[in-house]
Amino acid sequence: MSSPFRRIGVIGAGAMGRGIAQLYAQAGVPVVVHDAQPKALDAAFAYLHETFDRLVEKGRMGAEQRAATLARVIRADSLQGFADCDLVIEAIVERLDVKREIFKALEAVVAPDAVLASNTSSLSITAIAAACERPARVAGYHFFNPVPLMKVVEVVRGVRTEPAATDRLVELTKLAGHTPVVCQDTPGFIVNHAGRGFGTESLKALGEGVADVPTIDRILREQVDFGGMGFRLGPFELMDLTGLDVSHPVMESIYHQYYEEPRFRPSVIGAQRVAAGLFGRKTREGFYRHDGSAAPEEEAAPAAPAGMRVWAAPGPCREGVRELLAGLGATVDDGAGPAPDSLIVVTPIGADATTAAQGLDATRVVALDTLFPFGLRACKRRVLMSTPATAAPVRDAARGLFAADGARVSLLRDSAGFIAQRVVAMIVSIATEIAQQRIASPSDIDSAVRLGLGYPVGPLTMGDMLGPARVLEVLEGMYRTSPDPRYRAGPWLRRRAQLGLSLLQED
Ligand SMILES: NC(=O)c1ccc[n+]([C@@H]2O[C@H](COP(=O)([O-])OP(=O)(O)OC[C@H]3O[C@@H](n4cnc5c(N)ncnc54)[C@H](O)[C@@H]3O)[C@@H](O)[C@H]2O)c1
Repeated sequence: MSSPFRRIGVIGAGAMGRGIAQLYAQAGVPVVVHDAQPKALDAAFAYLHETFDRLVEKGRMGAEQRAATLARVIRADSLQGFADCDLVIEAIVERLDVKREIFKALEAVVAPDAVLASNTSSLSITAIAAACERPARVAGYHFFNPVPLMKVVEVVRGVRTEPAATDRLVELTKLAGHTPVVCQDTPGFIVNHAGRGFGTESLKALGEGVADVPTIDRILREQVDFGGMGFRLGPFELMDLTGLDVSHPVMESIYHQYYEEPRFRPSVIGAQRVAAGLFGRKTREGFYRHDGSAAPEEEAAPAAPAGMRVWAAPGPCREGVRELLAGLGATVDDGAGPAPDSLIVVTPIGADATTAAQGLDATRVVALDTLFPFGLRACKRRVLMSTPATAAPVRDAARGLFAADGARVSLLRDSAGFIAQRVVAMIVSIATEIAQQRIASPSDIDSAVRLGLGYPVGPLTMGDMLGPARVLEVLEGMYRTSPDPRYRAGPWLRRRAQLGLSLLQED
């Protein structure tokens, strides 16, 4: 495959610029690098030398290849060094005014048909391009950190970007072995837009007092099961890793840029913790302590009560729940209604335990999450929820019973959609809105999110694996129980659920 660009310029030699230079030098394309700070340029070249040395040590690169790759990286002490470049990728400070000035200055240096691309995460490509005489040649080219390892790149079309420019960037991305995803210039592009469901909904549940931080993290790591894979990190672990000083402003920015779309409404908890300086690992304290102290331990489940009588209410997976109960050593009550001493298990989808307990004796009701029904028997974690009326001994007995085969059990306070249902449904809901707005193709949305956020599968595939109708049921249940417009289902999801189609189906 030959490169669609002969010579690439990279302006800004920080974390991103040096990674982009490495990627294309390794792909065989000459790269000219410039930074306003000579020291930053020195540091970038030192980084590249060290990186290639390490690759040689590990046997991933030969000595000759190292020399040839390094020779392809050319230092430029002024913008004039970009004169022969047919592409310049900008990775400087994230400020619209500074980027606009640089793009104007670059236009004065490069050939009329050179492409100018910005690695901005949050600024409008269209607004950057508007500073140029030829806005049609300006595109977004959004890499993820660290560039060589994060194998997806968003190729962004501004309002006036010509397809030829983005087509060439797509080809270039493939040359380096990364996956290009094409999207329209919209706030957060694909990945930072689609990523709003996970943390935001978890913070909302935390704010409602549904469960504590470690419980929510454990559920999303261990209960969620897409082909044997859950989320690698819980949402609070992830926020501690990224730093809340970075993630909270992103949540606020996407929310405001979409004119206060309720699906993205951030949490006051995030704002408070940022004000307190509890950013996460970088400040040694965030949602967790990072000072070497032991991680919080999970409370052990009480002993399983012997021969407990349990009645499973009609609902999804009733047979599966009964089988599970029998396997756990319970006496399954198969009456038309519960016997007076039976524990009552309800299995709401989208609704809360209280709603599911209507017409039943709520003091004896616990809810079991059956979103991942195939994991009922073999799952690592089962999630229960009580109503405000559920008696404490009933809650304890239920925890003991559902842990009887060694599964871990989390008990939540009442919540419309437990934790996994609401978080996964919001992830799917937001992704279907991105598809509906034609920001990107469904398959690009899926691969961008899987590769950019490390989710087990893309969000539309998540919806397909659960069934679009089931996801719609979760959202409608949540919306009925707590009529917050963030839970309204959009037309992409609704139509495909109604027609029995895949969420990846384009129209
Ligand atoms: N760090 C990330 O995780 C990440 C991910 C995706 C996109 N981005 C975006 O990439 C861009 C760069 O981010 P970064 O993390 O590499 O920043 P950084 O601070 O590590 O590096 C920026 C570099 O740009 C140089 N610079 C600033 N103004 C300049 C100018 N006018 N002319 C020439 N050089 C100038 C600085 O000296 C610095 O070396 C930003 O737009 C950022 O939003 C960052």
